[in-house]
Amino acid sequence: PLPILIDTDPGLDDAVAILHALSCGGFRVEAMSAVAGNIGIETTTRNIGRLLAAMGQGGIPYAAGAAGPLQGASLNEVAIHGDDGLGGVTLPEPLTAPDPRGGVALLAERLSAAPDGTCTVLALGPLTNLALLRREAPDAYARIGRIIAMGGAIEERGNVGPFAEFNIACDPLAAAEVLAGEVPVTLIPLDVTRRIRATAEDLDRLAAFDTRAATLSADLIRAYFHGNADRASRPLHDPCVMLMALRPELFGVVEMRLAVDLDGDHPGRLTRSETGAPVSAAMEIDAPAALDALWQGLGA
Ligand code: BDR
Ligand code: CA
Repeated sequence: PLPILIDTDPGLDDAVAILHALSCGGFRVEAMSAVAGNIGIETTTRNIGRLLAAMGQGGIPYAAGAAGPLQGASLNEVAIHGDDGLGGVTLPEPLTAPDPRGGVALLAERLSAAPDGTCTVLALGPLTNLALLRREAPDAYARIGRIIAMGGAIEERGNVGPFAEFNIACDPLAAAEVLAGEVPVTLIPLDVTRRIRATAEDLDRLAAFDTRAATLSADLIRAYFHGNADRASRPLHDPCVMLMALRPELFGVVEMRLAVDLDGDHPGRLTRSETGAPVSAAMEIDAPAALDALWQGLGA
């Protein structure tokens, strides 16, 4: 299994991604760090603990990371993900308390303990924790093998205004720092994540798998529909990160250089640039095969 660290702001689609990571058998989850994003840091941290408890995985350490962006005001997506961040879906209480040292210290410790370059970081929220790790523990940060992050809108329209995507718009400066290039970054933008969509039929298919991860994911995706009753399907953004780590052949990747708007009218907008470090951006996805892989992983 691939050793991974998950940085996340659960969040309904984060939760499905986490359940997939815990159930599919392809990963060894070393630790999870929470970041504020879809909802505040206390709730995202607690939600990690609840998801681990639901999967009987109390042994995986987790911790609260950043409570807000490096600079500027916080955004949230409570309207989509609900007041508890997980659409009111019933989950057990955490089995263990979060690591009191905090998310950045936990990531640093795990990276320092692992052989250099072997750990992949799967980033499902704003990039604040990774930017703080880079600033505060650069040696540990440099030991990351690769970061795969859900974020950005390249050719596609944004979801925070016409150009920016939520995770990057939450903390544009953190994104700019992580894209500086010390660690290779694979970005999964809306261009791809909007194409992998759950429908009502998928809920039936999921419920037919008799695993905890699948039945819970069906509940979470049903709740994701409730927040958006007028849509026939919902995009599964964050699970694409897990699929990229395990099944890169499902994606078409383009090397590009990207600049991040830090302020102005569209903070968080990404534009192609002549300068800066190269980033691998997923611009195409085999959506039917990707959905199939996601459901199979949840049903495993
Ligand atoms: C991203 O924003 C969040 O609401 C989702 O969890 C996903 O990470 C999509 O723009
Ligand atoms: Ca997320």
